[in-house]
Amino acid sequence: MRAYKSKVVTPIRLPDRDERTANLETAGYNVFNLDSDSVYVDLLTDSGTGTMSDEQWAAMMRGDEAYAGSSSFERLQSAVSDVMGFERIVPAHQGRGAENVLYGALVSEGDYVPNNTHFDTTRAHIANAGAEPVDCPIEGALSSDQQFAGNLDVEKVRDLADEVGAENVPAVLVTITNNSLAGQPVSIENLRAAREVADDLDAHFVIDACRFAENAYFVKEREDEFADHSVADIAREQLAEADAIIMSGKKDGLVNIGGFVGISDDGALDGLYEGVRQRGILYEGFTTYGGMSGRDIEAMAVGLRESVEEAYVADRVGQVQQLGELLAERDVPVHLPTGGHAIYVDADAFFPDIPAEQFPGQVLVCELYREGAVRGVELGSFAFPDTDRPELVRLALPRRTYGTDHLEHVAETFESVAERRDAGETTGLEIVEEPEMKELRHFSAELQPVN
Ligand code: F0G
Repeated sequence: MRAYKSKVVTPIRLPDRDERTANLETAGYNVFNLDSDSVYVDLLTDSGTGTMSDEQWAAMMRGDEAYAGSSSFERLQSAVSDVMGFERIVPAHQGRGAENVLYGALVSEGDYVPNNTHFDTTRAHIANAGAEPVDCPIEGALSSDQQFAGNLDVEKVRDLADEVGAENVPAVLVTITNNSLAGQPVSIENLRAAREVADDLDAHFVIDACRFAENAYFVKEREDEFADHSVADIAREQLAEADAIIMSGKKDGLVNIGGFVGISDDGALDGLYEGVRQRGILYEGFTTYGGMSGRDIEAMAVGLRESVEEAYVADRVGQVQQLGELLAERDVPVHLPTGGHAIYVDADAFFPDIPAEQFPGQVLVCELYREGAVRGVELGSFAFPDTDRPELVRLALPRRTYGTDHLEHVAETFESVAERRDAGETTGLEIVEEPEMKELRHFSAELQPVN
């Protein structure tokens, strides 16, 4: 059930088909190059794209813009302590800023860092620190009807430590929910097992908590031990296992920008906290603002509290499920059960006649724009060259932003795309121009239809 109503609105427009076709061509068949006002339903990301509440906007007026000792920061500390259970925080401009300050302090040249699955900025920061990121998802996570398909395979972590030496594994990471693995949740049982393996290896245990509230909702729904607990209690309980967390406020902080590192107040972590604080000052800004304005901080302090409200999070995850059902009813190959923030479509199965080298995922993304001005993102061989990832397309739902009619429009757009496919009107794509750093090509490369 919808847990909010609109007070401020942004007009949107559905450009006609000729305009959409022309826009695609001008954008070089890369939807990152589209103007947002030519997009009708924008599912590019759930990051920083949500709608703030009246309480958040009101709090922004209270923003204390002092360089040091800002009272806004005190309110954020109090919210993080209440909602996430961490007393010590180092603010950052967004999640990757938090990753930079934490992983730069924790990880060094030659280390190995396991994670259930590294999100791309996490992978890049671990690599940037000279270490090797190692994905340890559970076997067959996406091929079966797992309740906690996002879990870490702790045995793989032990095997890795046996192979490279425990002294070279400074941290065990778990990302909740597992964004790179269809937004699937992680159980508290698994987080406890991850804590245990980290202790055995004398390593730090870090949780990427970007979508902690959505994860807590799944735990309540699916993990028997927690069926009678509130989402707010579960949110804290799951994070209590960690030595440190990194947070992007752009997800479950319900804001457009901001993030932080949280360090547990265990005395054994004083050194790490001090190291992270110093790096925070160097890269993000003084310890009471770190890349955010006072008003950004106020909005996040309120957003964090709202994110664990039962009605909000049930509505949020329910909307993702609803989109999943609308697509599954139309035989769109979506990953089920759906995760917390996005729908993942198997473009290989949707376009069986388009070979991998002609980017079936990117074709689907372009066709969704051509047929309905819907914007998703390819997360297959175009975004991740030279890997054997499945050809996935992600449709991420901004929080508190779209309604059922928008979701229905997306589902109808899939019908039009399928009609064109069945009529043999869809062609593959080839790259015309790409940047030197191939890993970043999906942001800027240009393509054209294959003749
Ligand atoms: N960790 C995870 C699991 C993420 O999903 C993201 C961002 C980050 C860290 C980095 O946070 O964007 O605030 O710097 N994910 C966005 C997405 C970009 O579209 O999935 P950030």
